[in-house]
Amino acid sequence: MTDEQKLAKFEARILAGEKIEPKDWMPEAYSKTLLRQMSQHAHSEVIGMQPESNWVLRAPSLRAKKILLAKIQDEGGHGLYLYSAAETFGIDRAEMIEQLQTGKAKYSSVFNYPTLNWADIGAIGWLVDGAAIVNQTMLAKCSYGPYSRAMIRICKEEGFHQRQGYEIMAKMMTGTAAQKEMAQDAMNRWWWPALMMFGPHDAESVHTSESMRWKIKVESNDKLRQRFVNRTVEQAHHIGLTVPDANLKYNKETMNWEFSEINWDEFWAVVKGNGPCNHQRMAHHIKYHNEGAWVREAAIAYENKLQQKQKTTV
Ligand code: 3HC
Repeated sequence: MTDEQKLAKFEARILAGEKIEPKDWMPEAYSKTLLRQMSQHAHSEVIGMQPESNWVLRAPSLRAKKILLAKIQDEGGHGLYLYSAAETFGIDRAEMIEQLQTGKAKYSSVFNYPTLNWADIGAIGWLVDGAAIVNQTMLAKCSYGPYSRAMIRICKEEGFHQRQGYEIMAKMMTGTAAQKEMAQDAMNRWWWPALMMFGPHDAESVHTSESMRWKIKVESNDKLRQRFVNRTVEQAHHIGLTVPDANLKYNKETMNWEFSEINWDEFWAVVKGNGPCNHQRMAHHIKYHNEGAWVREAAIAYENKLQQKQKTTV
């Protein structure tokens, strides 16, 4: 078959809603953009553990500490699923880590903000994981089999993350005046970075049209962002939190909560490495990746020894 025929067959498969598997023929641009997005998604999961781990030793109760530890462990597991799914394109995990540590690969801007107090842990679980659920539920329909299947497992765990965060915020909003103020302050600091997780407007998005043509994305950045706003504003009002947007208003016709323009200068500054914690996050990742080299070396040595033993017993 000519390349044109192969492409036509591939596009027919996508149109028919078939899953593309690692050994199937696919256009280079398809695998290239999937690897870009999946590796960045994996990096985001791993870097995302840093802001939360800051509060494990300061959790207000043993129950809170156990829940936070479970969430952080989940995020590490999400990173592993996604690195494994990205490795189906033949890239080595070490190469993906090198791309992250040298700035060649991105991770979600939201993790470059500091966690100043316990309410931030609530806001992250409720808003950041809440936004991730909206995006990842869509990605579970992705045409690439390994990514779609990783999302199904991840979304189940995100549900727990979002609910535990909302529980923290709800509890604080029934607490003392100081606790209410702390929760509202965290809402004010995390609301806009959570909206930025969905990426630029569709009109400015360089990847959306191709990603939607090949059903990597089945819904656009703006559509998902609006779904998140509609769902979360109601949740905020239910526990007495104010959404930090003076222009927020409900449109009865569209049934959407209309909101102000995102500060795109801030968005691109953080994406380009100039957010409050970008340097801290990367320095931390590099330090502990290097300190953990002995674990990887020991695992590889053990694997080699096992293979050697199997060879001699065959
Ligand atoms: N942070 C960092 N970079 C971002 C970004 C953000 N919030 N939004 C967009 N970008 C980047 C894109 O990566 C792309 O840059 P690149 O070409 O160098 O990769 C550029 O901005 C243009 O954006 P596009 O919208 O054209 O790019 P995409 O089509 O890839 O859409 C996306 C951006 C919606 C973030 C998409 O990449 C995506 O769905 N990624 C997977 C999901 C993900 O990463 N979720 C967030 C973090 S994971 C998480 O929250 C874990 C939870 O458990 C806490």
